[in-house]
Amino acid sequence: MESFGITVTEHLLIHQKENPYATGQLTRLITELIFSAKIIEREVRKAGLVDILGMTGDVNIQGEKVRKLDVFANQVLIYRMQRSGVICAVSSEENADIIEVPDDLPKGSYLIIFDPLDGSTNIDVNVNIGTIFSIYRKITEGTECATEDFLRKGYEQVSAGYFLYGTSTMLVYTTGEGVHGFTLDPSVGEFLLSHPNITIRETGRTYSINESNLMYWDERIKKAVNYFKSSENLRGKPYNARYIGSLVADFHRNLFDGGIFMYPADKKDPSKPKGKLRLLCEAAPLSFVVEQAGGAATDGKQRILDIKAESLHVRTPLFIGSKKDVEMATKIMTE
Ligand code: AHG
Ligand code: MN
Ligand code: MN
Repeated sequence: MESFGITVTEHLLIHQKENPYATGQLTRLITELIFSAKIIEREVRKAGLVDILGMTGDVNIQGEKVRKLDVFANQVLIYRMQRSGVICAVSSEENADIIEVPDDLPKGSYLIIFDPLDGSTNIDVNVNIGTIFSIYRKITEGTECATEDFLRKGYEQVSAGYFLYGTSTMLVYTTGEGVHGFTLDPSVGEFLLSHPNITIRETGRTYSINESNLMYWDERIKKAVNYFKSSENLRGKPYNARYIGSLVADFHRNLFDGGIFMYPADKKDPSKPKGKLRLLCEAAPLSFVVEQAGGAATDGKQRILDIKAESLHVRTPLFIGSKKDVEMATKIMTE
């Protein structure tokens, strides 16, 4: 019998062992996420043709200039997630506080955190961007969600992943049963399984970091970065430098090719002593994915998934990718 491709719904329902969370509820939530991504992808693909590029003139909770596509993606995700019927609230990189599901809509016991559009500075120059998501079960009693439901350790995630709007549009996600990649077939509007059981090389060949921040790093970080630029490393020669400026795209390349992405703490912006990346909507979801693929992720000292979020928008240094590379970088920075 010819296979007509494996959809995400089929993969969740049939191709995963008895996973307590691969229930209809999680399938429902991921189905709504997929619909949101298709709407976002449609706007991304025609961005140059409609008035969706450029700035809105606003500044978000992160203190960053907001772009029209950021706002659009955020609005789509909030609207669709609130109608999934299985969550109690959402937290977005773009919003200061959690957004509850209105009382006139059905609620559930999941909650979702997302970065609606990652790599915003690349939107107007047609470079890969993406959407990152992280799903937990609520822990507080009753049907209402509280902020404390969101202040979790990353290892409590039920599912996490990202959509990448690149040369093709992909969904890469985990529910704790390995990492699986699906590619959007635009002719039928469906994400079909293209990369089952993704694993990351133990030792990579690429390092990704914004070297323009060199003067803002402390000596230990410089030593770790120089390890990858020298021949005194596991490769016996310098790693290749690749930096796109969209975390989700840099992460995805290193997941497939092997490598390490580093965004250390720096002294560049006193308001961001732990660097630019956010724990809940960027570091934790990608750390769940990378560990499920056999990789590792630390903040330069400890495992990202062991860090409890003390507030919704707390930031963290991030060293993520091939296990031996992350271990070596972390060892150099903690010696
Ligand atoms: P976002 O667009 O969601 O704000 O994320 C941008 C992040 C991340 O995607 C990327 O790795 C990083 O910003 C790049 O920061 P620098 O320009 O400081 O290197
Ligand atoms: Mn981001
Ligand atoms: Mn973003």
